[in-house]
Amino acid sequence: MLNKKTIEDIDVTGKRVLVRCDFNVPLDVETKTEITDDRRITEALPTIKYLMEHGARVILCSHIGKTKNKQTLAPVAKRLSELLGREVPFAADVIGPDAHAKADALQDGEVMLIENVRLHPEEEANDPEFAKELASLAEIFVNDAFGTAHRAHASTAGVADYLPAVCGYLIQKEIGIMGGALNDPKRPFLAILGGAKVSTKIGVIENLLDKVDGLMLGGGMTYTFAKAQGGNVGNSICELDKLDLANEILAKAKEKGVKLYFPVDTVCAAAPSEDAEISVHPSNDIPDGLEGLDIGPESIKLFTNAIKEYKTIIWNGPVGFFEIDKFAKGTNAIAETMAENAEAITIIGGGDSAAAVEKAGLSSKMTHVSTGGGASLEFIEGKVLPGIACLQDK
Ligand code: 3PG
Repeated sequence: MLNKKTIEDIDVTGKRVLVRCDFNVPLDVETKTEITDDRRITEALPTIKYLMEHGARVILCSHIGKTKNKQTLAPVAKRLSELLGREVPFAADVIGPDAHAKADALQDGEVMLIENVRLHPEEEANDPEFAKELASLAEIFVNDAFGTAHRAHASTAGVADYLPAVCGYLIQKEIGIMGGALNDPKRPFLAILGGAKVSTKIGVIENLLDKVDGLMLGGGMTYTFAKAQGGNVGNSICELDKLDLANEILAKAKEKGVKLYFPVDTVCAAAPSEDAEISVHPSNDIPDGLEGLDIGPESIKLFTNAIKEYKTIIWNGPVGFFEIDKFAKGTNAIAETMAENAEAITIIGGGDSAAAVEKAGLSSKMTHVSTGGGASLEFIEGKVLPGIACLQDK
């Protein structure tokens, strides 16, 4: 459980409170002004509303995009104004005169947003001077940016050196649900992992082998396992330098009595395109010239029948090239079966799997859809998240 102070443990009335949110929302690629999924904004509202209702002067901050993109947060100010039903003043700078003037003008219960903290390269460098400047806007720091909690940046961790620092409701909820499932799951407990590479999931797999009863692997990383066991994987993505590692994982799973599920058949094509000609092959015998792009019909049966048997299910990473509909069947079948398993605690670990569940219209049927991609992966891996470690202990 989260042993950190929350907004309810600190007196915020009449105080200027700097709230780090993760408003790194997807924007329409053409206009760069239309938000295509505002869940990260709506998930921040409980903390913002609590602070406003308790008479705090709320200064919101976030990054959006990468430093090099220099994207403005203006579309988020607009969306927030709509969601809160009041104008949210938007400062055109981060630590400059406009941010200070607008922060000074705030009255109790009012809220404002400052510009994208990544307009300053010092943000990602966790520069102490920059963190101090940012902290000088406020008297209290609230971190509610779960999606960025794995980053030790100035606005996620550095500011906590200069202000009393507590967490908001979103971080509390994310850690509460995912931590609860990992440490005290309703059994049997299944983890489903997809994604392209074994190398990016190795820490997660190792941590999960100590906790789960079943581990289901799909997606690009399974070709490395198939190859390690002597199979043919054609042109599928495969990490040849991780074959020993794959065999070690298999041996460890056996030793710990974890039931493993691998695809038995695979949907293949010459390349992942809308008009690709597809064929289905055994997962350990993919012809040269073809690559595996989704789990096949037999694997879907195997996986969905198994998913029905579990009482806690955590899923991270699609099991196919889900961005193209003809390779999204496996990923959609997993999402649907999890959604139908009403008795189970179902957790989607952010990133691509959250996008897939959202695309399938099933988010509301899950117990929890994390707002963090990289952050939830590091949390499941058992790593310390700097944006949480920096907060005051209870
Ligand atoms: C995310 O989208 O995973 C977070 O907002 C963190 O963004 P980053 O990977 O650019 O640090």
